[in-house]
Amino acid sequence: MEIDRRIFIASLGGAAAVSQMDSEARADALEHYMEEQLDSSANAQGQAKKFPTAAEIQDQIESRSYRRGVGGLFASTRGNVKRLEPMPAAPTLLDFFERRFAPANHVLQSATRALKTGMSEEVILACLLHDVVQSMMKPDHGWWGAQLVEPYVPEKTSFAIRYHQALRFYADSAAGYEYPELYHQMFGSDYVPPPYIEATYKWVRKHKWYMEPRLVTVNDLYAFDPKAVVTIDPFREIIGRHFKQPKEGLGFDNSPVAHMWRTIANPDSPL
Ligand SMILES: [Fe+2]
Ligand SMILES: [Fe+2]
Repeated sequence: MEIDRRIFIASLGGAAAVSQMDSEARADALEHYMEEQLDSSANAQGQAKKFPTAAEIQDQIESRSYRRGVGGLFASTRGNVKRLEPMPAAPTLLDFFERRFAPANHVLQSATRALKTGMSEEVILACLLHDVVQSMMKPDHGWWGAQLVEPYVPEKTSFAIRYHQALRFYADSAAGYEYPELYHQMFGSDYVPPPYIEATYKWVRKHKWYMEPRLVTVNDLYAFDPKAVVTIDPFREIIGRHFKQPKEGLGFDNSPVAHMWRTIANPDSPL
């Protein structure tokens, strides 16, 4: 397939953003981009897309040496994992963004869109943090992700992070959210979310803060701006205002989630 290099680089947020990515992240991005191009050319030719069924996805389990839910820091789907930069003695959220979550392109694009469309600072912060826990754990990442930041962020922010996971499976056209085609690929064309996800959705749908997680999903899937150069810089002030950075450093403040930050900081520890 022919790739227009300029368009590809722009789709990642420009040359500056690409220079921040390691070779594995670039390879992932290229693969993702090529899949999208293939999909859109199939669409253009009016061909029906063929998505796997949920059973076919289950059948792939033993074809891998890792489980799909493992956090990105713990397994490489291509070649070996990389040596990580050590963390400072009292790491801040920004240190984690720089040394463990990088390139964090997905969450930065999401938060950038939230910022540009004038969302509340609680929602912008939620967009910035909504998927960072996937470096450690992917299943139930809404709950894990909310727990990871709960002691440090406004209640609306952790609420938005916790429940965006369930809301992703349910369209809300009025809010500008449709069921993502990507999930036909990831979960199977006939996938039905488990009962706890449906029950959570029904509960959140009636909650007075429903729009908080809903706006995370809205920014999540349309977080693509070919001209955007995404960095953490526009969010420094919002982080400063709303993220209660512990002076001992994340991982060392004896909070109920400190061990989660230490695990992300030290994924090479054998025990
Ligand atoms: Fe997510
Ligand atoms: Fe996301």
